[in-house]
Amino acid sequence: MWRRFRSASPVHWHEVTGRAVPGFWVLSRYRDVMEVYRDNKRFTSEYGNVLATLLEGGDSAAGKMLAVTDGRRHRELRNVMLKAFAPRVLQPVIAKVRERTDELVRAAVEAGDCDFARDVAEHIPMATVADLLGVPAGDREELLVLTKEALSTEDEGSCAQEAVVARNELLFYFAQLAAERRKDPRDDVLSILTTSTINGEPLTEQEIIFNCYSIIIGGDETSRLSMISGVRALMEHPEQWRRLRCGEVTVEGAVEEVLRWASPAMHFGRRVREDVEIGGQLLRADDVVTLWNSSANYDEDLLAEPASFDLGRKPGKHVAFGYGPHFCPGAYLGRAEIAAMLCALRTHVANAVPNGPARPIHSNFLHGYSSLPLSLSPAR
Ligand code: HEM
Repeated sequence: MWRRFRSASPVHWHEVTGRAVPGFWVLSRYRDVMEVYRDNKRFTSEYGNVLATLLEGGDSAAGKMLAVTDGRRHRELRNVMLKAFAPRVLQPVIAKVRERTDELVRAAVEAGDCDFARDVAEHIPMATVADLLGVPAGDREELLVLTKEALSTEDEGSCAQEAVVARNELLFYFAQLAAERRKDPRDDVLSILTTSTINGEPLTEQEIIFNCYSIIIGGDETSRLSMISGVRALMEHPEQWRRLRCGEVTVEGAVEEVLRWASPAMHFGRRVREDVEIGGQLLRADDVVTLWNSSANYDEDLLAEPASFDLGRKPGKHVAFGYGPHFCPGAYLGRAEIAAMLCALRTHVANAVPNGPARPIHSNFLHGYSSLPLSLSPAR
């Protein structure tokens, strides 16, 4: 489908029927997607950065949460957030990721059969985000339940109202924890957010809690879905699994190919600020424009044979983490999580075969599986 869009209608106007929402532009070529990502002056995220919010006309965290803020405040908040992703903060978090992933994969191999999504992948990114934010051990179970309710995209019939309540509970939780950290700062991201100042002024309470929320949204599902899609791709391509196991390809290169292949965040979007031409089409001020990573990462102009999963590719320039001013600040951590998973598989697993149907999630934003039953045989 995307190949057809890229060649026949690369900058495509999609009319929405049956709902009182505007139509939107669909960009499928790598070069057009990059052009919009790199320009946060003519294309803003302040009215939302995914279809769900863009079509509703806005995002309640606009101007406060990094992903939906632009201009000077975005640069200022991003500088604070980048402190939170500095190697000093990430090092102990990544050490725990490796340890945790290794233990989970080893346990799954010992059991023989597992649901890789539920038994392994589900336990890594949320725990990592909780480590990063400094969430106390006793609160983690509750946090997991709330994030699942707030963000879960996997059930077609999930209740929108319950999700809103859970989202508010999460914000309330972080407001309380932020108040504690302000009095008694530690070496975690929440303490960095509560004690940092911009031009001598502390961040507002809303900025602190929305950005904690942003780390949860950004850090959980995308990493989890990448791991699950990565394992699935390796199972479906035994030759690539062999190359990884015998060291013919590097883990770093394999991580990039997994990210390109999985493209867990299928799209992001922007609102056009002023009339602008892209790929020969006139996009008008206030139009909604969507950037399809899941197409751009398979663009024939970007790489040869995009439809083949090849761990030995020269690390490409995929847009799985976006590009430009909003480029994912969690990219280093996301890559470390996928690398830890590939290393653990290579160490403990000889072979993995499907043991039931994979269950795809239901979303126009994220792509991947919520269930991946496998039988694993141990490496000697
Ligand atoms: C932004 C993807 C992991 C936090 C983004 C964007 C993409 C992305 C495509 C750009 C959004 C835009 O342009 O509107 C991914 C993928 C990940 C991942 C594929 C894992 C494989 C993480 C992690 C964290 C994180 C682990 C935090 C712990 C964020 C934040 C932003 C962001 C806060 C907003 C940045 C800004 O607007 O300046 N991510 N992400 N992400 N991501 Fe990630």
